Amino acid sequence: MRRFLIAGNWKMNCGPYDAAELLEGLKEKKAEVDENVDVLVCPPFVSIGMAVNYLHDTDIQVGAQNLHFEENGAYTGEVSGSMIAESGCNYVIIGHSERRQYFGETDTTVNKRSHKALEHKLAPIICVGESLDQRKSGEHYDLVKNQVTAALFDISKEDILDVVIAYEPIWAIGTGETASPEQAQEMHEHIRKVIGGLYSEDTADRINILYGGSMKPANAKELLSQPDVDGGLIGGASLDAESFSEIITIAE
Ligand code: G3H
Repeated sequence: MRRFLIAGNWKMNCGPYDAAELLEGLKEKKAEVDENVDVLVCPPFVSIGMAVNYLHDTDIQVGAQNLHFEENGAYTGEVSGSMIAESGCNYVIIGHSERRQYFGETDTTVNKRSHKALEHKLAPIICVGESLDQRKSGEHYDLVKNQVTAALFDISKEDILDVVIAYEPIWAIGTGETASPEQAQEMHEHIRKVIGGLYSEDTADRINILYGGSMKPANAKELLSQPDVDGGLIGGASLDAESFSEIITIAE
């Protein structure tokens, strides 16, 4: 009953000119996508307009990489949920480990941003995941449970159906090291159980849980064939039209 979601997180790459080139390549290869897969690109804010324009006649959707939890006002440098929605996005990444590590993102602000996203009909892609030390010391399951629980605090049983969770083990991000399909499956199953406990098993079965961390054409098939892996949040490989479209084809 779940559709795959293949999402590209461009991070701080591709201003409008580079974005146009990348999108041109992507459009050539994948303007149409099978109905069992949703495809999304998340450019930096300055390239969102370009992406929405370029992709309006394709099956590819556009999302943002962050949003502020206030509606508007004196918050220099920030972008609100209403602005992102008005720009033509329907998803937003929240709580990426890079934001947690470099920009003071906490479980509390992740929860506030998620509420704001949902208020503006943006599906939040909430990122969770452990560091290598946390995995080595065996605290990864509890840590991810706490991250998921805090992120979803006070989100209604209706709104939760629009939420996407991305499991991104920090040790696998941009390192070339990937969680094994078994490690990914174990954690995804764990996350689904946590959501089942907070809401219901039926709800948990309907939530998309993406894997992120060095996903590429060479490992996507095995990862995506795990029963609880519903897609990917892809960094590096989403910056190459050929690799990204290959991953989409694998999901199809
Ligand atoms: O949001 C994407 C993840 O951080 C994964 O990035 O595919 O470059 O490892 P990566």
